[in-house]
Amino acid sequence: MGYLPKNFDGSFLTPLLSHEYGKIRLLAAKNIAKLTNFDNTAILLQTYQNETDTGVKREIVSAIGRMRNPGNKKILIDMLEDNDPKIVCQAIRGLLVFKNDSKVTGKLKPLKNHQNEMVRAVIYKEFFAEKSSGKNVLRHPQSYDYLKNVVVNDDVLQVLKYVSDESVHLTFTSPPYYNARDYSIYSSYQDYLEFLEKVFKETYRITKEGRFLIVNTSPIIIPRVSRSHSSKRYPIPFDLHSYLVKMGWEFIDDIIWLKPESSVKNRIGGFMQHRKPLAYKPNPVTEYLMVYRKQTEKLLDWNMRSYDLETVNYSKVPDGYETSNVWKIDPTFDKIHSAVFPAELCRRVIQYYSFKGDLVFDPFAGSGTVGTTAKSLCRFFLLTEQEKTYFDYIKEKLGQETLFDQLPAHFYNLKKFKEHISQNKAFDFGEKQISSLNTLAESHNIKLDKHRKDFFSFEICFDNQVNQMTEVYFGTVEELFEFANSKLMELSDNEQLNSYQVFFKELVSGTLSETYTFNDFNKKHLATKAMEYLYTLLKGPKK
Ligand SMILES: C[S@@+](CC[C@H](N)C(=O)[O-])C[C@H]1O[C@@H](n2cnc3c(N)ncnc32)[C@H](O)[C@@H]1O
Repeated sequence: MGYLPKNFDGSFLTPLLSHEYGKIRLLAAKNIAKLTNFDNTAILLQTYQNETDTGVKREIVSAIGRMRNPGNKKILIDMLEDNDPKIVCQAIRGLLVFKNDSKVTGKLKPLKNHQNEMVRAVIYKEFFAEKSSGKNVLRHPQSYDYLKNVVVNDDVLQVLKYVSDESVHLTFTSPPYYNARDYSIYSSYQDYLEFLEKVFKETYRITKEGRFLIVNTSPIIIPRVSRSHSSKRYPIPFDLHSYLVKMGWEFIDDIIWLKPESSVKNRIGGFMQHRKPLAYKPNPVTEYLMVYRKQTEKLLDWNMRSYDLETVNYSKVPDGYETSNVWKIDPTFDKIHSAVFPAELCRRVIQYYSFKGDLVFDPFAGSGTVGTTAKSLCRFFLLTEQEKTYFDYIKEKLGQETLFDQLPAHFYNLKKFKEHISQNKAFDFGEKQISSLNTLAESHNIKLDKHRKDFFSFEICFDNQVNQMTEVYFGTVEELFEFANSKLMELSDNEQLNSYQVFFKELVSGTLSETYTFNDFNKKHLATKAMEYLYTLLKGPKK
């Protein structure tokens, strides 16, 4: 009935709550809700108890909630037991008005362990989500300058070790097609999936809050070994999906990239001849673009509002955008790389999922299409590609500076990238640890180099008597701790100090290459020991 004025006489609505048609009962409940009249509670509750239609029940809970009457708290609390999660969410909504009442919060908070994910998410957002991570020094639209327009030639997993948390706005990539092409070989499908799991876990870490990952994959076929065997088809997008959601990526959309049938490999030929059932093999004209968002309790609106008006206006998607999730785009064939993205595909993804000035990442850059397109759309790019031939190809395309370049591209191997990072990277190691390191350093007359502190690279100032300065480079904090932790796992206390020494010697001689897991206790403990050992290395035991 639309808006109902305060003095509206809605008494004719209550008998309709027992009408034989569910639709009428639903509309009655909906309009009673607008009246917010406490006198209706009893009849609403009675209807709720006898109602079988869940839609009507939900409206009733909403009506009771909308009254905002403290006398209804008990009724709403009882409704939290309903087995329809949507009703539980409605009841929560009604109760959140009384968030200051400890009895109410005492009932709501335990729902963070509710069996339903929607209920858990609401409770988490209301009571448990950190308002701001406070971890990142950058504002949401910003990214580190030293990562902008950078291409690194190495294994993506090695490169990402040096990239800070929450650095990139969008990742668009097409991973290797298991063993279907020559450029990468995995010992098994499981190995391949686990490799991708590691890459997308790291991608998750370096992605900004609430931003997107778009993965282009398709089922692939590995040809049969001989005529007496069958070929094997691997459903990559479907298998990868469960890994991605498990690590926190929230599934948003599936977009189908549809290619002309004439452009794909013919599989239907045999069937066309014999028409025998079971041997039907359609031509695969589609690939998937699976769209995921980094988990956050914040709405998309939060992401969008963090940009200034000028950027938002500049980034508006022009007319002619795709309205369905089926994108008809011709594939691109390339003389050097066998699996390049069509520029049109990249253009759409970048335009629809990023703003001007954002940093777009492609861990499997290939010929660098994501880079060239990002650049043409006034975004920045960060690319990794392990094959030198393709890296050189990217360099050819992105390396030529023009007068209009906002920022020239930089091309590095891993070693040069590490150096580049060590000269530029801002601090992102826990403040607490750093301040305890500082205190310790001061007590040993060692000065930390503030510009490089996350790199655990120190400028060590000897005291005035020696009057000498040395710089020691050790690698990232994570490398240091991971390595040390692995060494310390099974050692007794006495042995631990020794192992620190071994560890630092290995570091100094540059043999640090493995990765290990570590925990916070060991991190802190090691930070202290590290400084002490550094001191003894340089000055002998402290008296
Ligand atoms: C499907 S192609 C990507 C093509 C790209 N979308 C383009 O437009 O050219 C996958 C690329 O990932 C690269 N690659 C495979 N394993 C890698 C790794 N561990 N680190 C970095 N790049 C890798 C391969 O060399 C290949 O060029």
